[in-house]
Amino acid sequence: MKNVLVVGSTGQIGSELTMTLRRQIPEGNIVAGYIPGAEPKGILAESGPSAIANVCDGKQLAEIVEKYNIDTIYNLAALLSAVAERKPLLAWDIQMNGLLNILEIAREKNCAVFTPSSIGSFGPNTPHMNTPQDTIQRPRTMYGVTKVATELLSDYYFHKYGVDTRSVRFPGLISNVTLPGGGTTDYAVEIYYAAVKGEEFVCPLKAGTFMDMMYMPDALKACVDIMNADPSRLIHRNGFNVASMSFDPEIILASIRQYYPDFKMRYEIDPVRQSIADSWPDKLDDSCAREEWDWKPSYDLDTMTQDMIKCLKIKFDIK
Ligand code: SER
Repeated sequence: MKNVLVVGSTGQIGSELTMTLRRQIPEGNIVAGYIPGAEPKGILAESGPSAIANVCDGKQLAEIVEKYNIDTIYNLAALLSAVAERKPLLAWDIQMNGLLNILEIAREKNCAVFTPSSIGSFGPNTPHMNTPQDTIQRPRTMYGVTKVATELLSDYYFHKYGVDTRSVRFPGLISNVTLPGGGTTDYAVEIYYAAVKGEEFVCPLKAGTFMDMMYMPDALKACVDIMNADPSRLIHRNGFNVASMSFDPEIILASIRQYYPDFKMRYEIDPVRQSIADSWPDKLDDSCAREEWDWKPSYDLDTMTQDMIKCLKIKFDIK
């Protein structure tokens, strides 16, 4: 990896991944791809090149790849699960037509491609506990449908054309930099914001709803490590289960109450999010990622809680 295009560079993952890559590869061009209305700002805008990179515009993407001699594309443009249920056709367009544009450019220009998959690629008849790497994937959300198809199409381009596609199935990602936009796991981010701001938290999911979650520093490590992995060790490609913690609303609440004993939470269940969450695994088995490219997360729930609270207090200038 030297010259990298991050499509969706101002989103939840992209905003931090772009900066991570710029720090790790100072000699390269790490291009922040964005769409009008979601322009890079501040340090993201100032620390390297940026370009309008709409996944639905293959010509525009090809020009950027040409101009910066791009060797790796992080394809992070996507609508998250709850939003995609409201706009299924747009989700299909971004996630599928966009992916096809990127894979075609990668085939022509010899780029490696990372397109994240998700716990959302699983469905109600997937084994929910210790979900294996290779198992039933019959999701019932548009988000999940596009994620399964992304895995298949990415594998297809690898087997048919030798395009170096790799990915991971991310759990819910928790960060203190950029908010996620309309996912089912967002509650696990919002609960920290409420705690630090001294607000009551209204939880949209029932107690007992377990899902995999991951702190953003570990997710960034996964994004980079898989693209740097020795290809001869990879039995799987698109995409690897990765996991670091699994909890329900009561467990994250208890973790936060170690710091804010009076923090209040009440439940107001969102039926759309609840049914999506119920269809997703409780806990993934990520042993293939551990074996094939030495995946190992650094954070558990309590170390994440400690760091989230510390960083959000700085962000909001709270003593
Ligand atoms: N965080 C995503 C969502 O909730 C799952 O990958 O939609």
